[in-house]
Amino acid sequence: MAEPVFHPIDLILRKRDGHELSTEEIKEFVQSVVSSGERKAASQNNQPLADDSATAVISDAQIGSFLMAVFQRGLSRRELADLTTAMRFSGETFDASALPTFTVDKHSTGGVGDKSSLLIAPVLAAAGIENNPSISVPMISGRSLGHTGGTLDKLETIPGFDTQLSLARMGEVLRECHAALVGQTPRLVPADRILYAMRDHTGTVESPFLITASIMSKKLAEDLRGLVLDVKVGSGAFMPSYEQSKFLAELMVSTGELAGTRTVALLTSMDEPLGRFSGNWIEVWECVDIMKGMPHPMSADLIELSNALSGWMLYLAGKSASPQAGAELSDQILRNGKAYQAWLKIVRAQSGNASIFENPAAFHKPQATRVLKASRAGYLAGMDCKQVGWAVQRLGAGRTKPGDPVSAHAGIESHLKLGQKIEAGQPLFTLFSEEEALLEEPYRMLEATLSIADAPPQKMPLVREIVRKP
Ligand code: URA
Repeated sequence: MAEPVFHPIDLILRKRDGHELSTEEIKEFVQSVVSSGERKAASQNNQPLADDSATAVISDAQIGSFLMAVFQRGLSRRELADLTTAMRFSGETFDASALPTFTVDKHSTGGVGDKSSLLIAPVLAAAGIENNPSISVPMISGRSLGHTGGTLDKLETIPGFDTQLSLARMGEVLRECHAALVGQTPRLVPADRILYAMRDHTGTVESPFLITASIMSKKLAEDLRGLVLDVKVGSGAFMPSYEQSKFLAELMVSTGELAGTRTVALLTSMDEPLGRFSGNWIEVWECVDIMKGMPHPMSADLIELSNALSGWMLYLAGKSASPQAGAELSDQILRNGKAYQAWLKIVRAQSGNASIFENPAAFHKPQATRVLKASRAGYLAGMDCKQVGWAVQRLGAGRTKPGDPVSAHAGIESHLKLGQKIEAGQPLFTLFSEEEALLEEPYRMLEATLSIADAPPQKMPLVREIVRKP
């Protein structure tokens, strides 16, 4: 029996005392986290243990201590790249080498009403059909989390739409459609599943180093050549300040670049819900209207953001001479019906019933509706966008804990954007829910968080800053 040479306590003490860890130590740590998780699962299911005697045993207390040491001490860029790589290869990964294509994806740190993935995937797919080079978007997305919405929850409101594809099937859909919209497989980046759950219990979720390793290990497991990150700033952002969002963006960009993936981050405003609707089906409906060439005026900011992100993706893929030219190309594809054709193809390839898009408004069937009206005339001056996201979650569109069901029809419609002039009694938000009883609390939350002033506020641009490799 091989003797393990790695002792987790050594790694914990060294990081606690501010020393730099070696690539090998970090790799051993991640391997022992995964094999300890496998041992735990095997003993819970009364299954025989795999022969992993060469891997050191690590206790939950030791994993928690290591996470706290990283939370306090941080990681060098090299350590962070090593942790991300070890996590990336802790389970199965997508292999894009068989696809003669430029693989590119985007990731958002989470927003309210942010449905840009549903527009970007078909835009890139439509642009990617031609060669020189062709493009593929292996978009592995997540579910709603806290006050933010999740792409998978939105897609799963389309009858029959299958997000749970194997990586092999995802490759087939990519070959056929140039984009696939799927969920994480159980064996993709298992280290993150264990570490994320442990971070939740040890007060270490907010570490920008651990967030970077978590997000980037999953994105890089898609075998990407290009990645565009949408890092939110403002009252609805995950990170509490502009500086912290920017630091997170810089960490993610350097980690992606060190892994050989061209990575760019856009710092974008999340001070109010994006677009017209925030919820699940209603967000799909909004995107279908845009792709059919019938955008609602409230969708203008969503279209602008989607084009900015797609523009960078097209530029990285060599389809445009500049990100600005890429944004113009994206806008054309969105408006000329090509994105809609690509969307229908993706939905059908993933077993969705595309006939529902013929009349999307007819599928919106909330049981209960209430309108929040302006208490006085003035300008819509501000809101805590996180509170708006929590109101959407409490209407039934989000979940309280992992695995909870979400409502297809719950959510809100925004009738005004920040800075717009308001008359007393004018509708600000319409709330939708499956139950009348679920309307009251979100109504009060929205009422409390909106402010109306006599003068318009100073509005921030949607794209605040671009972070790229120096
Ligand atoms: N999303 C992730 O996948 N991981 C984090 O740590 C935070 C957000």
